[in-house]
Amino acid sequence: MSSSTIFSRSTTFILFLFIGLITNVQAVDFHVKRYGARANGNSDDSQAIMKAWKDACSSTKPSKIVIPGGRYVVDSMKFQGPCLAPIHVQVEGRLQAPTNIKKMRNDASWIVFQYINGLTVSGKGTFDGRGSLAWKQNQCASSGKCGSLPISLRFFSLNNSLIKDITSTDSKFFHMNVHNCRNVTLRNINIDAPGDSPNTDGIHIGGSSGITIHDARIKTGDDCVSIGDGSQQINVEKVTCGPGHGISIGSLGKYKNEKPVSGITVRDCTITNTMFGVRIKTWPASTKGIASNMQFENIVMDNVGTPILIDQQYCPYGTCHHQVPSRVQISDVGFKNIRGTSTTQVAVKLVCSRGYPCKNVKLSNINLKYSGTNGTAISECSNVKPAVVGRVVPPACTRAFAA
Ligand SMILES: *[C@@H]1O[C@H](CO)[C@@H](O)[C@H](O)[C@H]1NC(C)=O
Ligand SMILES: *[C@@H]1O[C@H](CO)[C@@H](O)[C@H](O)[C@H]1NC(C)=O
Ligand SMILES: *[C@@H]1O[C@H](CO)[C@@H](O)[C@H](O)[C@H]1NC(C)=O
Repeated sequence: MSSSTIFSRSTTFILFLFIGLITNVQAVDFHVKRYGARANGNSDDSQAIMKAWKDACSSTKPSKIVIPGGRYVVDSMKFQGPCLAPIHVQVEGRLQAPTNIKKMRNDASWIVFQYINGLTVSGKGTFDGRGSLAWKQNQCASSGKCGSLPISLRFFSLNNSLIKDITSTDSKFFHMNVHNCRNVTLRNINIDAPGDSPNTDGIHIGGSSGITIHDARIKTGDDCVSIGDGSQQINVEKVTCGPGHGISIGSLGKYKNEKPVSGITVRDCTITNTMFGVRIKTWPASTKGIASNMQFENIVMDNVGTPILIDQQYCPYGTCHHQVPSRVQISDVGFKNIRGTSTTQVAVKLVCSRGYPCKNVKLSNINLKYSGTNGTAISECSNVKPAVVGRVVPPACTRAFAA
């Protein structure tokens, strides 16, 4: 064999290796219009998008589903794994939910991503829940039963995934629910619904660990971010919230066998024109539970009803056994570098359980002013003796909370 043949064989081999590398790295595209999506804002495009998902999810190479600009009316859709390779859904268009909730066949959610490792959802697109008719049918407040309206986006059993840049608007119930996930980041998220839309929580996290929300603008009718039982190592950073009910841990203690909440950090947030700022809420007469290691720091409050709140008598619909204390043990809580204005006089309210007093609560460098004209801000406490570091205004536990 001549040396030139060997040379050309090895060049060919290297060339093939190179091409192989490129095609492996570059995702294979699946455009939904090639699957028949019309994007005319009228006919139902869910079948077409689901077909694209099926092909992409069974691709052995990394794949990307592209939903280009346009309006796509879609019924309930389940993007279900496991997939054979990492998968990316790029949404540039506007997905529109059915306005008639009967059409959603009592589905708990409109769009679900579930059982996927290595999912990316990105794009400038919008998930429009078209909730205004459904809000009128919401019976949470009147009956305490809240299960019948669909959540807009449900992320269930995802690992190592990234959700970025997308917008959710006018969800019928919660905007986003992250459940049973590991290592998932939500980055640069926009959420938008009217301040009086019922139960339109922005992002609810539960039963998950290693979840980061980084950079989100949330305007809605309920909690901007809420963190439920079984949440561990959760970071909430750079969220602007308002209107809404603030950023919450809880509510906890409503259901049996709730898992502990621990390792929660909320930092660098701005909360504006909301009912509450940062709070921890547990039900009276609750089931047993644990909530520990929760830090709230570098937070600006602008016209917030109650900027700092621990409420172990949480009872929004007014039918609770208040004589029985909450059995959720709260410990290791820090409120640090929190400043701004409150619209009620009690700017700091720490109402802990008589049966399970809060342990190791610390207030550091707090400066909250009452924005009314007839008095100064005060702080109320029960069943807690907070440690104080630096300058704390209003002074910790100005008076006892009287139930
Ligand atoms: C996610 O990780 C958990 C824990 O390691 C594992 O049990 C589960 O099967 C994984 N799910 C997927 C979809 O990869
Ligand atoms: C977490 O998920 C991201 C993808 O969003 C991935 O790049 C990273 O390696 C994962 N981290 C761990 C510890 O698995
Ligand atoms: C100030 O005014 C508000 C609203 O009228 C009232 O609820 C509150 O008790 C007043 N505070 C004082 C110190 O008078």
